[in-house]
Amino acid sequence: MRKPLIAANWKMYKTPAESVAFLHEFLPLVCNIDDIDIAIYPTMSSLASVIGAVQGTNVSAGAQTMHWLNEGPYTGQTSPTMLASINCDHVLLGHSERRIYAHETDDMVNWKLRAALAQGLIPMVCVGETHDKRESGLTEAVLRWQISCALNSVKPEEAEPIVIAYEPVWAIGTGSVAKPDQVSEAHRIIRREVAARLGEQCSEMVRIIYGGSVKPDNIAGIMEQPEIDGALVGGASLNPQTFAAIIQNAL
Ligand code: G3H
Repeated sequence: MRKPLIAANWKMYKTPAESVAFLHEFLPLVCNIDDIDIAIYPTMSSLASVIGAVQGTNVSAGAQTMHWLNEGPYTGQTSPTMLASINCDHVLLGHSERRIYAHETDDMVNWKLRAALAQGLIPMVCVGETHDKRESGLTEAVLRWQISCALNSVKPEEAEPIVIAYEPVWAIGTGSVAKPDQVSEAHRIIRREVAARLGEQCSEMVRIIYGGSVKPDNIAGIMEQPEIDGALVGGASLNPQTFAAIIQNAL
């Protein structure tokens, strides 16, 4: 059985003080939840504060990106060893906003994934088709390509921590949540591709979660689908009451 994961991607919102104030309100609301893993990905300048504030709780923290090398002359970057050194647990890789605005390629996502696994970080790889690709009937091709590139040279025995977030680009921040059957179909495609790359047994362990306009009133329908192991939440994770309601409604 895969344990569900609900994660908050705060993108470029919240100072360290705002992040800690959020947690002060949020942690008591979810402290009794054992059946769902909860993670928060704050912006880099708030990461150490969030890690400190969630220490000893049932919530963990992650970075929104990282470089694949451990050090070097790369201005503005943070390395896998640097994240591990501050007790960061998770790292988000290949979010569509990173692919679009920071020109992150499928190769880079693969290098980062392998670096995260080598460093003991829990990597969440984001994949998903644009509206145009879906309209052209290319959803399956896009997902299979992104997954096969991301998993290149990953060994089955190291793959268990990997989380894949299916985030159709057209559903992110738009209010148009994908229909549960569309998500289920995409998750089946992704799991088949993971099985083709890493084997059936391994594909059954990897969590595949959904992201794109998740809200308290649509999470239950999403989580009813057996193929869906959780959610990556953007806008609706910025308010502690709303994010806690999403987690409660996912139970
Ligand atoms: O990482 C989260 C996704 O980009 C979803 O964002 O919930 O605001 O649509 P959203």
